[in-house]
Amino acid sequence: MTQQTRTATATPPPTSPQAPPPTPAGPDEFDGRDTDRPGDPRAVGLRVAGVDKTYSTRRGDVHALSDIDLEVGRGEFVSLVGRSGCGKTTLLRVLSGLLAPTAGTVEAGERPAWVAGRRDDAVFAEFGLVFQEANLFPWFTVVDNVALPLKLRGVGRAERRARATELCATVGLTGFEDSYPRELSGGMRQRAAIARALACDPSVLLMDEPFGALDAMTRDRMNLELQHIHAVSGTTVVFVTHSISEAVFLADRVVLLTPRPGRIRSVTPIDLPRPRSVEVEATAEFGELVVGLRRQLDEED
Ligand SMILES: Nc1ncnc2c1ncn2[C@@H]1O[C@H](COP(=O)(O)OP(=O)(O)OP(=O)(O)O)[C@@H](O)[C@H]1O
Ligand SMILES: [Mg+2]
Repeated sequence: MTQQTRTATATPPPTSPQAPPPTPAGPDEFDGRDTDRPGDPRAVGLRVAGVDKTYSTRRGDVHALSDIDLEVGRGEFVSLVGRSGCGKTTLLRVLSGLLAPTAGTVEAGERPAWVAGRRDDAVFAEFGLVFQEANLFPWFTVVDNVALPLKLRGVGRAERRARATELCATVGLTGFEDSYPRELSGGMRQRAAIARALACDPSVLLMDEPFGALDAMTRDRMNLELQHIHAVSGTTVVFVTHSISEAVFLADRVVLLTPRPGRIRSVTPIDLPRPRSVEVEATAEFGELVVGLRRQLDEED
């Protein structure tokens, strides 16, 4: 991987409601080759159209999402931010097939995933999920946890062990393959959860505050590792976080939701060169992106 030399400018990229996925625009822009941005942003990874979600509870209805339209390019990294309770997890659960939308459709790579409240299990089987808790099986070793999705697909023992060992290396767990989850730190457990999510080469990786429980330094390291994993795997990622700087650091675009009901308020392209190092956080461009997004959140008070 080569470090780009393009300098940051003080001008923040435009923020627009419902901006389309970025397209290559010139020699200085992403062209899929001269950066570490994987995939093809012109191809659709995920398409969400008119998604609405109302929870019916004993105390009445909760309108959690309203009219969500969003396209995520193949290989694109989209961060989802917004106040607590604005519907981020609800949207992620709809995208992962765990929760039926009340209305609207979800497509993955032009294949219908949710249509008229019906899900296509084959499409969602290609998705990888990572949550705040690693949810590893305590009686399985790391390598067996990572290999579990392959076992469920009937992959033979030797092959799944080889693939799981490779994935352990990808997430920096070499040497811990035969450890049990209780012998790992929180960050290592999350890495194992990411490796497990990658086991079936997911077309889409959905992550809900995966680093929310980690200390700041571990989180920085995990962000660098996730950036690398995204670059080498080329998977489409939707990443939920409470941290605006984490969202900006990782993303190609940041989607900001407003609450009651959750709607897309803005989509901000993050035109910072890749790969990004932690030093990017000290640049004027990064600072202005973070301040701009924080201002939008504050305006909701
Ligand atoms: N299973 C449920 N039944 C009823 N209401 C729910 C359910 N899950 C979420 N809600 C409601 O839907 C709204 C959105 O919740 P959601 O968990 O999606 O928010 P969030 O943005 O993920 O919040 P946080 O940042 O705190 O994780 C909230 O008002 C919440 O109370
Ligand atoms: Mg949540």
